[in-house]
Amino acid sequence: MIDLHCHILPEVDDGAKHLTESIEMARAAVRQGISVITATPHHKNGKFDNEWSFVIEKTEKLNETLKQEGIPLTVVPGQEIRLYGELLEDFSAGNCGGLNQSNYILIEFPSNHVPRYAERLIFDMMMAGLNPIIAHPERNSEIAQNPDLLYKLVKQGAAAQLTAASITGTFGSKIKKFSFELLNSNLVHFIASDAHDLKYRSFHMQEAFAEVEEQFGIDAVEYFKENADCVIRNEAIYKEPPERIKKKKFFGIF
Ligand SMILES: [Fe+2]
Repeated sequence: MIDLHCHILPEVDDGAKHLTESIEMARAAVRQGISVITATPHHKNGKFDNEWSFVIEKTEKLNETLKQEGIPLTVVPGQEIRLYGELLEDFSAGNCGGLNQSNYILIEFPSNHVPRYAERLIFDMMMAGLNPIIAHPERNSEIAQNPDLLYKLVKQGAAAQLTAASITGTFGSKIKKFSFELLNSNLVHFIASDAHDLKYRSFHMQEAFAEVEEQFGIDAVEYFKENADCVIRNEAIYKEPPERIKKKKFFGIF
């Protein structure tokens, strides 16, 4: 299994605090059945900057350590890039990179809103031959209130990634319910861990896939796993036509 979103690199962001923690996370990933992890440290989120050459260097070092430790896990480079105006220019300049050097770019919005320029920038990214993947839309409060925002971006061609812990209910019942609404409406294309540590924000991939299998069957599980494989190989992913989430209307006496 491939995990496309993980903060496993040591001392680069709010993920693994030191190399020992990275090694512990790697062992836990293997126990989950993960064989390839995309290291996606935060980039340009106002707190952390991890330029592409630095990510490559840190990824190579971690792979050497995992080899020495005999842990059967491969780490490939990536970034979780906060959407910002100069993203495309920085990508062309080599300061940003795609997941495993592919054309798939993991982007995140601020947690409480979707920038007004998102639609335009995502369009420009696609025109430049890139495939934007929106990280954890289920955790964005503006999307939760107005899922049409995500529908429009997916309709436009963006993909989206659910966080495994959202499906298992670790972030609460509301986020869990919304995650299933997104799954039901073909608005998400990947499930990844976004693991930061083993205590508070761990992998939960097996548990999440068990829930997806229970609700939607084994084919749905295979769909998400296959899509992650496609990203690593830089091939086209499978997409079902997205549907609008119908929000319940409240009828009052007004
Ligand atoms: Fe993340």
